[in-house]
Amino acid sequence: MKFFIDTANLDEIKEAKEFGVLDGVTTNPSLMAKSGVKGKENIFKHYKTICEIVDADVSAEVIATTYEEIIKEGEELAAIDDRIVVKVPMIKDGIKAIKYFSDKGIRTNCTLVFSAGQAILAAKAGATYVSPFIGRLDDISFEGMDLIAQIVDIYETFSFDTQVLAASIRGPLHIVQAAESGADVATCPLSAILGLLKHPLTDIGLEKFLSDAKNFS
Ligand code: E4P
Repeated sequence: MKFFIDTANLDEIKEAKEFGVLDGVTTNPSLMAKSGVKGKENIFKHYKTICEIVDADVSAEVIATTYEEIIKEGEELAAIDDRIVVKVPMIKDGIKAIKYFSDKGIRTNCTLVFSAGQAILAAKAGATYVSPFIGRLDDISFEGMDLIAQIVDIYETFSFDTQVLAASIRGPLHIVQAAESGADVATCPLSAILGLLKHPLTDIGLEKFLSDAKNFS
């Protein structure tokens, strides 16, 4: 299972990279705004910097919503760096654009996916990744993790190459459940990745080992 970090914050990306378990980055317009990056030129520079830090897949989302505009923006994003994966929303023109990008060898991440039907369309169009949003489904009393398992099952049945990228992850338990459900990737806030470290018995055990070690050192 691959771990992506879900942020545009360079300090968090560097920390995750140094931690040694990072396989990529996902961003979205809200995360870019949160990290204070504004204007096309600055945003493109920011993507380039992220690519250089992680040397792995970096999802960069289009703002356009019509076919022609998605193609234009997606090609500009893809030209920034080979590591860019063009993130395209799950809309009719988005699916058409994913098919176009797929035929041209440009990798894509189909975002804002909330149903198995949408995930089938993304795979049929040739998306590299499909991003079902677990947390946002949980927020409205749907079991987000059921969707991950359902998509993984369908993709296995038909041998689709599209990778299931569990998105909108809120904590470490989501990561564990996504792994159990067979997600290829989990994109997570840094806090969720670091949350996997925590267990009180680890802390108690380490304290005891260190105090016993003092007796014979
Ligand atoms: C990542 O690709 C998604 O844009 C992100 O995980 C959405 O997360 P949120 O629901 O916490 O905004």
